[in-house]
Amino acid sequence: MTTFAVDGPSLVLEGENLEHLRRLPDGAFAMIYLDPPFNTGRAQRAVRTTTVRRQEGTGGRVGFAGRSYDTFRELLAQYDDSFPDYWEFLEPRLLEAWRLLDETGTLYLHLDYREVHYAKVMCDVIFGRDSFLNEIIWAYDYGARTRKRWPTKHETILVYVKDPSKYHFDSEEVDREPYMAPGLVTPEKAARGKLPTDVWWHTIVSPTGREKTGYPTQKPVGLVRRMVQASSRPGDWVLDFFAGSGTLGAAAVETDRRFVCIDSSAEAVDVMASRLEEHAEVHRALREDTVADAVLVGDEREAPAS
Ligand SMILES: C[S@@+](CC[C@H](N)C(=O)[O-])C[C@H]1O[C@@H](n2cnc3c(N)ncnc32)[C@H](O)[C@@H]1O
Repeated sequence: MTTFAVDGPSLVLEGENLEHLRRLPDGAFAMIYLDPPFNTGRAQRAVRTTTVRRQEGTGGRVGFAGRSYDTFRELLAQYDDSFPDYWEFLEPRLLEAWRLLDETGTLYLHLDYREVHYAKVMCDVIFGRDSFLNEIIWAYDYGARTRKRWPTKHETILVYVKDPSKYHFDSEEVDREPYMAPGLVTPEKAARGKLPTDVWWHTIVSPTGREKTGYPTQKPVGLVRRMVQASSRPGDWVLDFFAGSGTLGAAAVETDRRFVCIDSSAEAVDVMASRLEEHAEVHRALREDTVADAVLVGDEREAPAS
């Protein structure tokens, strides 16, 4: 059972994210980071959401529930017949992300080069093209290099804001990075570092470093911290509903934000429990064995005193 309260503790929630999301209140989050699994939607079936609140003044763009939206979906399906399932999986969750962002809020959607272009069109429809803020390229240099094409060493993060006239973005708060040629700028500038652009060179989580949790798809906290710093304020609520090892939670702790991290995998929740337990309440999914225990405890409590 989700126990989110605006003045309550940060939460780690185990379970199907759509079920948890539907219990969270509108506009509760300043920032959402999502790193969904690649095409696992094939195994997932989601209940379609059929309504979404439109913002004032956004009329005139393609309505998601309208005929043009359906046509657009059919066109997408024709391009890639493996896509509709992933689309069906992601779409209701992105609609929830839109609902849950406050009016200053920002979504960071982290995808690989095969999915990102479809997702861009989907987000344009859900958020509106005017709400597209950035395409961030995370570039790294690790692992084998194929000789059959350009070796792929980047991932893409789409950035959408809830309201292009009200969104929060504070570049002063962002971790700066070293100049590539520090000799070309003043010593003061070199010492301060430069503001990151939309191309982020950042190492992957080191297989031997302290940050490594053992969770296979863990992303570097340095990446997610930048997003949190730029797009929320201390004390704000931030959300990740494909949370894995809880990287967003770790970035929130470092920057004094409150967080909700949701994942359906018990293994992910184990990792988050040890990584974030001093900073959040952990709510496990009820499984058959825990239900049995709960019934036993209940029976014991109700047993008449002898
Ligand atoms: C790519 S990983 C996220 C990794 C994370 N960014 C990190 O740094 O550790 C995607 C996560 O989504 C979770 N997931 C997939 N489908 C889900 C669903 N329907 N509800 C909740 N979690 C889901 C998986 O268990 C997995 O942990």
